[in-house]
Amino acid sequence: MAAGQNAGTLDSAFFQPADTFFPAQAGVALTYDDLTLSTLYSEILPANASIDTELAGGLCLHLPVISADMDTVTESRMATGMALNGGLGLIHYNMPEKQQLKEVSRVKNHVHGLIQEPITVSPDKTVGDVIERIETKRYAFSTFPVVGDDRKLVGLLSGNVLKPRYAAKPVTGALVPRDQVQTLRESQLGADPIAVADQFFTDNPGINKLLVVDDHDELRGLFTLSDIERITSERHAQFRPARDGQFRLLCGAAVSTPRDADGELDRERIETHVGALIERGVDVVAISTAHGHSKGVGDAVALIRAAHPELPIIAGNVTTAAGVNYLADRGANIIKIGQGPGSICTTRLVAGVGIPQMTALYVASQAAKARGVSLLADGGITKSGDIVKALTLADGVICGGLLAGCPETPGQVMEISGKLYKQYRGMGSLAAMKSGSAARYGHAPKDATRKVAAEGIEALKEVSEDLDQLLGQLIGGVQAGMGYLGAATLPDLRAKACYTRISPAGQKEAAPHDVVEMKASS
Ligand code: XMP
Repeated sequence: MAAGQNAGTLDSAFFQPADTFFPAQAGVALTYDDLTLSTLYSEILPANASIDTELAGGLCLHLPVISADMDTVTESRMATGMALNGGLGLIHYNMPEKQQLKEVSRVKNHVHGLIQEPITVSPDKTVGDVIERIETKRYAFSTFPVVGDDRKLVGLLSGNVLKPRYAAKPVTGALVPRDQVQTLRESQLGADPIAVADQFFTDNPGINKLLVVDDHDELRGLFTLSDIERITSERHAQFRPARDGQFRLLCGAAVSTPRDADGELDRERIETHVGALIERGVDVVAISTAHGHSKGVGDAVALIRAAHPELPIIAGNVTTAAGVNYLADRGANIIKIGQGPGSICTTRLVAGVGIPQMTALYVASQAAKARGVSLLADGGITKSGDIVKALTLADGVICGGLLAGCPETPGQVMEISGKLYKQYRGMGSLAAMKSGSAARYGHAPKDATRKVAAEGIEALKEVSEDLDQLLGQLIGGVQAGMGYLGAATLPDLRAKACYTRISPAGQKEAAPHDVVEMKASS
C-alpha cells in the first residue's frame, strides 16, 4: 500500500498519544528534552489559541504560568505582574507572617494604572528646588502634586511653570491651588477604577493627570491619561488580568508546615496563618514541600480543608500516582509535580530520588484525571517549548529560574565583569533554609543552623527583560505550539498531543547549530 493511503497508520506507529507512548516507555523516565510533539492538521492560528485554565472551582487563569513561592522570585511586585498578565504569583513565606500578609494586601489592593505613591513636592520648596530635583533624579515627568506635612493636598505644580525664570518663586506662588484641581475620591473609583478614570479624562479635555484623595483630602494616588489610554487599549488584547469576583488581582501565598516543641504539626499556627491570609483576600494557598506524600503535609492539607471547605489548596510535591491520590484524599485540589527538576535543585544528587518531569507528569495525570484534581508541572522549565510539552499533561506550570532575572523579583541587581545579575537560590539551600524554609525539606528551623544536607544551591541569573516582555514571549511560544497541533484550547492540546522520543543527535538538531548566532535585532 502506498504511504499516501496508510498515512494514518504510519503516523500512529511513530507518533503516539500519551496513553500509548508513556506505558511503552515504562522503565525509563523522560523529561522535556527527551521527546517532541508531532504536528497535526490545523485550522488554528496561534493568536486565536486560548490558554485559559481552570485550576479549581473559582480559580481560573488566563495564562497557565505561576511564579514559584521562592524568596528570590515572588513577592508582591512579581505577583502583581503575574496576575496583570493573567497568571498567578505565590508569595513565599521566608519572611515574618505579618510581612507576608502585607505583601498579599499589596497585590489584592493594587489598582492597575493608579500610581499609589506618586512623587510629590512640598509647599515650602522653590520652583528652582523642583527643577534641580528633576535633573538629579532624571524624572521623565514634570507635573507634581503638592502635599503638606499632613499629607493633605495643597495643589498641583504643572510642568509649564518649571522654568528657570520662575526659579526663585516659592512653589505656593506657582501651583494651581487645591480648589482649582479636579480630583476624585477613592470611594468614587468603584469596582472598575480604569473605566472611571477613562470617563473622567473624556469629560475633561486638556486634563492629563487625575489625583485621587481620601475622605480627609489626603493624596491616595494619581492616574495619568497616557497610562489609562495604554491600559484601555490593552483591554482589547486577548490576555486579561487574572481577577477575583471583586475585580481584584488574584494572589496566592505559601504556607509552611511548622512543628511544635514535641515535633507535632503546629495546628494552631497554621490555622491562624491561613485565616489571616484569607482575611487579606488570598485566593489560593500553597503547601510546597520537597516530599508531599508524607504525613505532615497530608495532615496540614486536611487541617486547612476542614477549616475552609471552599479554599483552593495547592499541595506537593509528588511524582507518583499514589502521591496524587494521597493529597487529593486529604483535600488538595491542585497538586504540584516535580521532585528535583528545578534549575537550583540538588535533591536528585543529594538524596538519589526524583523522577524526570514528563514521565512523572504522565503517571500523575492518570491519578489526577480519576480524582478530578488539577496538576502543576513544577520546575525544570527553561523555554516555552517545555511549557507546551508540560501542558499536554498538566493544567499549568510553575517557573522559578525562568523568571528569576526579571526586574520584578526581590533583590538587588549586581554587576560582575560588566554584566548584570540577580541572585536566585533554592529554598533548600542552606541560606534559604536559615531564612525560614527548613520545614519544606523536613528539617526543624534550628536544624538549619547545624549541618544538614542542602538540597539546593545559591546561584545568579543574568538580568532579563521585564516580566511583561518575557511573558509575551512565552505566551507566543505556547500559542505557536497549539497552532502546530491544531489545538484551540488547552483541553484540546491535551487530547491531541502525540509524542515521540528523540535521540541525542535529534536534540542537537533542535537548537541552532553550525552557525554563529547574531543578537536578534529588536
Ligand atoms: P526552576 O527550574 O523553575 O525550578 O528554577 C523551580 C522549582 O524548584 C523547586 N525548588 C527546589 N527544589 N531544592 C529542590 O530540590 C531547592 O532548594 C529548591 N528550591 C526550589 C520548587 O518546586 C520551585 O518551584
